[in-house]
Amino acid sequence: MPNKVSISTLPFKFEELPSISMVLKNYGVDFLHCDIMDGNFVENKTYTPQMLAELAEKIKLPLDIHLMVNNPIQYIDILHKYAYFLTIHYEAFKDETELKNALIYMKNQNLKVGISIDLNTDVNEINTVLDIVDLVLVMSVKAGAGGQNFNSCAVNKIIELSNLRKENNHKYLIEIDGGINNTNVEQCINAGADIIVSGSYVANANNTELAVQSLKINKNHKY
Ligand code: DX5
Ligand code: ZN
Repeated sequence: MPNKVSISTLPFKFEELPSISMVLKNYGVDFLHCDIMDGNFVENKTYTPQMLAELAEKIKLPLDIHLMVNNPIQYIDILHKYAYFLTIHYEAFKDETELKNALIYMKNQNLKVGISIDLNTDVNEINTVLDIVDLVLVMSVKAGAGGQNFNSCAVNKIIELSNLRKENNHKYLIEIDGGINNTNVEQCINAGADIIVSGSYVANANNTELAVQSLKINKNHKY
């Protein structure tokens, strides 16, 4: 089974997402990766959760929602019914208790819950929540903008997460996000990534279908 591919909404015009997601689905894309930024946790601002809720009705792909926001809890009540994965950032919380409470709150809403670590955060910071989450999203660029270059420090984090999963029988999937293209995808898959996020590489490709295919590699995946 090849890995899953989740295409970022960032390079596309919001109003074109329904038609684009249809095309991407036909090319074998598994998820639409919805990057929500609040202009506070990160400088950029994308769309509101209300806009995403409206969009969700028109999208044929399952939504992989990546919340780059402060106070993510206020978004969850709106988004939980539209999300396949809903991912919050470790760095958006002031302490471990607040983070755990948020994750448990999300779990209770029957969500597949993700935790993301930004480029400068180590895996050991999230050790105590690895038994709660369904997904760990490793950033391979600094959260906040598309089109940046892949930072290979993320590969070691994937390896670490993959080892921890094996040792502790954790169930989470590993997703990698930022600057992924056909030249670095294989090292991420070999390290243990299950879901590959891509934005600009696929959006700028001359042949979208081939670009999507180049991000899928046959290996024994957990998912
Ligand atoms: C960055 C976002 C990513 C990014 C992916 O903050 O979370 O999803 O836009 O796009 P590329 O592939 O262009 O880095
Ligand atoms: Zn993202």
